[in-house]
Amino acid sequence: MSGGHVLCRVEDIPDGTARGFDWPKGEVKVKILVARKGDRVFGYRNACPHVGVPLEMDPDDFMSIDGRWLQCSTHGAQFRVEDGMCIIGPCAGRPLRSVPLTVIDGVVAVRE
Ligand code: FES
Repeated sequence: MSGGHVLCRVEDIPDGTARGFDWPKGEVKVKILVARKGDRVFGYRNACPHVGVPLEMDPDDFMSIDGRWLQCSTHGAQFRVEDGMCIIGPCAGRPLRSVPLTVIDGVVAVRE
């Protein structure tokens, strides 16, 4: 019972962090990330709106040092966890592309 492509369990993402996944979509694997805040999870394409590169340089290293924002490692853009909006950086005002998720019995899946 997943409602889509299963990624992990909520508790596999430590609260206040994010994890990267490859989401098989047809022939391609789409890089996505899932951020957790408490019991809530937020899914985004792992592509910076600035020049399209993945946000992280080290695996699962998506958060700013203060833990408040998703951050792009390339030029430092920072994004709100809740809606992916870039609040500072070269792509300010442009959001990460949302990936709809489901959580059923603690299992996080991409809604397909
Ligand atoms: S590529 Fe992300 S801020 Fe420039």
